[in-house]
Formats: sequence, C-alpha cells, structure tokens
Amino acid sequence: MITVKNKIFTITTVGTTYIMRVRDDRYIENLYYGRRLSGDMTDDATICALTEKFNNPYGNSITTPDSEDKVTLDNLCMEFSNAGTGDYRQLPLEMTDATGNISTRFYFKDSLLYEGLYAKREDTGMPYARYYAEDRKPRTLELILEDRRGYEMRLIYTAFDECDVITRRMVLTNNSDTSVSVNKLSSLQLDLPTTDYSMLSFDGRWTSERHMHEKELISGTYSVGSVNGTSSSSHNPFIMLKNSEATEHCGSVYAFNLIYSGNHEESVEVSEYGKVRVLTGINPYGLKISLNPGESFYTPEAMMTYSHEGLGGASAHCHDFVNGHIVPEQFAGRVRPILINNWEATYFDFNKRKLLGLAKDASALGMELFVLDDGWFGHRDDDTSSLGDWYVNERKIGGSLSSLIDKIHSYGMKFGIWIEPEMISHNSDLYRAHPDWAVDVPDMEDYVGRNQYILDYTNPDVCDYIVDTIGRLLADNDIAYVKWDMNRPITDAYSKRHECQSGTFYHEYVLGLYDVMRRLTEAFPDVLFEGCSAGGNRFDLGILSYMPQIWTSDDTDVHERVTIQGGTSYGYPQSTMGAHVSASPNHQTLRSSSIDSRFNVAALGVLGYELDLTRLTPVEKKAIASQVAFYKENRDYLQFGRFIRVKKYRQLTYYQIVSEDKSRAVVMMYRDRSEPNISYDTLYASGLEPDATYRVEARRQKTSIKEFGNLINQISPIAIKEEGITQAIVNSVYALDADEESYVVTGATLMYAGIKLQQRFVGTGLEKGTRVMGDNSAALYVITKEVR
Ligand code: GLA
Repeated sequence: MITVKNKIFTITTVGTTYIMRVRDDRYIENLYYGRRLSGDMTDDATICALTEKFNNPYGNSITTPDSEDKVTLDNLCMEFSNAGTGDYRQLPLEMTDATGNISTRFYFKDSLLYEGLYAKREDTGMPYARYYAEDRKPRTLELILEDRRGYEMRLIYTAFDECDVITRRMVLTNNSDTSVSVNKLSSLQLDLPTTDYSMLSFDGRWTSERHMHEKELISGTYSVGSVNGTSSSSHNPFIMLKNSEATEHCGSVYAFNLIYSGNHEESVEVSEYGKVRVLTGINPYGLKISLNPGESFYTPEAMMTYSHEGLGGASAHCHDFVNGHIVPEQFAGRVRPILINNWEATYFDFNKRKLLGLAKDASALGMELFVLDDGWFGHRDDDTSSLGDWYVNERKIGGSLSSLIDKIHSYGMKFGIWIEPEMISHNSDLYRAHPDWAVDVPDMEDYVGRNQYILDYTNPDVCDYIVDTIGRLLADNDIAYVKWDMNRPITDAYSKRHECQSGTFYHEYVLGLYDVMRRLTEAFPDVLFEGCSAGGNRFDLGILSYMPQIWTSDDTDVHERVTIQGGTSYGYPQSTMGAHVSASPNHQTLRSSSIDSRFNVAALGVLGYELDLTRLTPVEKKAIASQVAFYKENRDYLQFGRFIRVKKYRQLTYYQIVSEDKSRAVVMMYRDRSEPNISYDTLYASGLEPDATYRVEARRQKTSIKEFGNLINQISPIAIKEEGITQAIVNSVYALDADEESYVVTGATLMYAGIKLQQRFVGTGLEKGTRVMGDNSAALYVITKEVR
C-alpha cells in the first residue's frame, strides 16, 4: 500500500513502513524505514515526532538557501542527494553538464501514484520484479525531481506488500538542449538515522563463492562490487545490515539486492554524524554515458527489505520475493527434475557408448534428466576450440543429436544440453568468419581466459546470430533443459563498432545479454534454463529473471557446499541453487566424504548427480537409488519450503527446510571436524508448530566399512587389510546399517530443548545405537507431524 497526503508519502507492506516528506526547501526527507507502525502515520503529531529537528546549524556546515530550519544537509536523511550542496557523503549521481559543472540542484516537483509496475519498465531493457497472474497488483510511486536546467530525476518505488519488499530505481532524463555526461547513477539511496549496524557481504572466488562476512560499521565507507563485467563471485550484489542486537532469529535487519548481472557497487557509509547511507547500483568504474537531449538513463531496479525477525526473517522476505516476483512465472513453484550431468563423469572424453551407459544407469536409479555438458559441438575435445560453432559433432556423439535424444527418451529421461553462447574461440569457424565479433582492442595484445574470448553482445548482429543459432538448436531438437555457461570475465571492454566504446561497453553488454536471454526464453517458455558462470560467478536476480535456477558453484565438496549454499541462502531461496552429488575424493578439493553426506547437503538445493555412475559399487548405487526416492517424496517442500539457518555451534551447522503448512521438515546436521570423546549431540529445529506432535527420524543410511580402517577387524569374522583387495570387495557389496533413531516429541520440545541424539562413536567400542559421524559428514533428520 502506498499513500500520498500533504506531500507525505507512506509505503506500507505487511510488516514494514517507509515514510518520506517533502520539506519546504523541496528536499525529500526520509522519516522512517523499519518495522510497521500503526495508526495514521501522516498526522501532524506523528510527522513532528519523526522529523529531525534542526534549530541551530552545526559548526562548519552548509545549509540550503530556503530552509524551513537550520538544516545541515550533510546530516539529513534524504531520498536523493545533490552534488555541490554540502552533503559530503557518497552521492548517487555524478554528472557533468556541457559547461563542465558537476553540481546539481534536483528538487521535488511532483509525484505520481498508480497501480501496477513502473510504466516504462520495458524501455529500460533490463529485467524487473513482476507480479504473477493471481497476485494483487502492486502499487508504484514516482517522485519527480527537477533541476531547472532541464534535467529530470525520477525516484521510483514499487511495494510488494506480502513479502515486505520495496523496489527502487532512478531514471535521469535530459530535457535540456545540450548533452550531459553521466559517470554514476545509483538505483537506490537509503539514509538511516543510526549507526548501530554491521554489514554482511557475500564474497569469494571461483569454487568458493558467497562466503558470508560480517564487518562492524564504525566510520567511513565500506563497499563491495564488481568490475569484471559480471556480478561476479568476488562480491555478490546482495548485502545486509544487521543491528548490533540482531541475531539469526530476531532483531532489526535490512537487506538489499540489485536486479542486474553486470558491474555493480554497494556502498555503506557511516557519516561523521553517525548516520548510515546505503547506495546500490551499477558500478561507476569506466562508466561514461553521454546523455543527449531527450534521452533517459535507466538504472536497474534494486530491492530492499526490512525484518525485525533477524537475518532469517530478512532472508525469508528475499526468498519469497525471488520465488514470487523474479523467476519466470511458468517456473514459480514448479518442481525441478533430478538430473545427471556428464561433466565430472567424462569431462571432454566421451562418446556415444559412454553417454548412453551413464544415462541408462541414471535412469535405473530414478533420475529424470540427462544433461550433455561441454564438448558436443564443433570439434571440441578440449577447451582450446569451437566456442561459437553451435553445431553438433556427429563423429563424437555417434550420429545426430536427435538420435541421441531419442535414445535418452527411450530410457524414460528428458534431455538437456550445455551451451556457452557469450564466448568465441579463436580456433572456430565463427571467429574465422567474424574476427570483429570478439571483444578486444585493436593494436593491443589480447588477454585470454580459459583459451577463450568474449563475444561482442553490444553488437545487435551478434545477438541476432546467437538467437538464431541457439533458437534453431532448440527448435530442431527435443531439448527440455539448457545450461547457459559463461566461463571467463570481461577484459578490454571495447567494441570495434564505435569510435569509443569503453564508457558504455559494460552496460550495453548486459543489455545485449538480456535481449538474447529474453528472446530465447520467451520463444522456448517450457525449456528449463539453468544459469552458470564457471559455477556461481554470476548468481544474481538479473539471471534469475530468465532462468529459475543457477549452478551454485563448481565446488561440490561437502564442506565447501555447506558454506556456499548457506551463504547463498541469505539472499536466495534453495529453489535457485543447483546442487550435485559428485565423486569422492572431490575434484575441486580432493577431500573425501561419504556418498550419503554428499547427498544430504545437495538435498537442500535442486538435486543433481555429476559423477561416473557406471563405476560405482553396488552399495553406492543402492544408496543413490534410495536418495533419489527420498528426494522425490519430499521434493515439493525441499525445493519450495522455508529454508532456515537454525544454528551453528562448535563443529556443527544445522540447516532446515520446513513445508509451508509446517507438517514436514528436514534438518541437515553437518559436522566439520570430529571432536573426540565429547558428550551427546543435540538435534535442533525451528519454524514448527509448538503444540503439534512430531515424529523425528534419522534418514536411514549406511556406513562404509572403510571408515573404520583396520579397526573393522575387531568385529569382522575375516581379516580385512586396509586398502587391500578384501576390503575393496567387501566394501563394494556390504556396508554397516546406521541404527534407527526415532523420537516423538512436541514442536516446542524440538525447538526449545532439542533432542539429545544417540551417543557418538568415542573410540571405545561400537555398541548398538552408536552413531558414526566423522569429519566432513552430514546427516538428515526427517520431521513429520503426527496426525491425531
Ligand atoms: C564450467 C561449468 C562446469 C562445466 C564446465 C564445462 O566450469 O561451471 O559445470 O560445465 O564449465 O566447460
């Protein structure tokens, strides 16, 4: 709900209130953003209480010429700050007019309130938050600011009531008769009156994405961002501000994100007066936009949310927003298939026999989608060639693509395929035909990543070529799923089409990318697209607007995944996270883990398998068959239930997913390192009905005899030498049953007291009931409401 009354603007969502007022000097003051207020928030008494009082100027400060008070602009919570006015904090706009002047004077002029989304959203060329068929239409407020030289700035707010999200963007229009140069325009400015926050950012690198870091905000500017042309794994555009009293489950938390996949910057400044300013938007690095008379510069849409229920509360808002307003409507709430991907099973070294062998085993184990990864096109047998040549290598796959697909279908599976359509190899027919389509700077040496180069998506001819080529691939073949990869960041941002490209290249590249993604996903609405960028290097709301899931990370190691999926969960729901069971030792870390631990972590996302099933032992295959059956039974809420980061203490991490009606849940308990000879482990849960009765059971799994090494001889009737042939044979057909563990308790008991689990192995014996849970291992506990 949004109301406009006496130049007071109130945005109310289910749990939050946002209030602004226009001052006499025509600046818009932010009066409040936080937990929902009650009553008439626009009456004089409330407004007086919320307005900051400026009776005397601060020493050494600047005020406005027509202030109603002795305001110090440097210390006012504002919706938009001008350059050259004594607000010395980070500014949302850097603009130079034709005379070289960088000062601006945007003042409030008018407002517009309407039902529905921002009217000119399509003109932006960027994705935006939507509402789906059955939803109530959100409302949008535009605050129109004017600089009398002929410039207009619109601050645009849309309220998504039920998930407590407000989106915001700014649009600058040049109505003067000379061009201006724009070097920065944020999407969102939010000024908060107090300092008592820490900032959470989600940072990393390839195979180690979105690790959560918390920094206490003291004084100065803290910023994260990306300048490599993608949203990047270095710093995700999602950030949070957490009040010092807040925890995972209670207290004040703000969260911000950007619906954008290119360079971005999020800055949080603590001013000398102790106020906080948040700016998010396109990264100004290299940006130089010449805005000609009559033109507008649109910023991407940003989102913000507030929760008084801690980090978990803010995450829940973000999850609902992504599931309900970002992913394509036809995939909202639609369960995703369990896939087998051949990449880590074969890498480039495959042929028809290997692919079909893998598919056959996958189908027998209950998997639903076979994904053919890199290496099927051109003459690509390694990463040195063929990107851009999107026609099938029939020699390698032993016939036409459709004949391979038919075979996969005959196993009862759907077929999916990997592409990397933003790339070009020098050794490709495409490059030989169009060397000017590769991004590089003439007369400078080319910088290469993974032997490949970027295609110039700022060039409409390139975009058309990709839409045609990939469109034909999808039209000619029965393909149900596409993995869209992007394996190297941008260097030498420059297009050979124009004289000077660097200032607009990064942004135009993203616009070209969105154009291609929009055309292809609209033409093939039933194809499930999964975003990927060397794993999770481009995990953002822009990609999710076209592709409902993203390959979270190339790293599938249990330990890393607990951190990566946990970090990602602060801003994104589990329905967006591709999560695969891969081989052990893990191909990224060489760390070993049990087949069930790998599943128990992957089950918290969109499940897939990515290992050579044909080489597994009967014991491992049995384990996988039961995992797949378990996932299918619980998939609806595993993918779309509420994800909760329950607890982290000592060496243990607990994540939980609970169904919307709270009748079913799983808790994943992960142990980093095994502490010897310690007392019991407690199982904790959250988000259940306190008075309901629940049955709690450990998901049945096996324990490999290898875990015991030579110790197994204490119970084995035959001598088993560690790493010997007998151990290998026994291990392939036999594993120890983990003991049943089952409890019936109330939700309150589970949530407030926890369940003391069976004693863990402490090195003195393996009696009945002893739990075995070593380093880097995960267990799942299944919680079901008892029907009385
Ligand atoms: C990237 C992806 C992998 C795989 C390879 C293929 O690294 O993240 O999953 O598809 O490319 O080259």
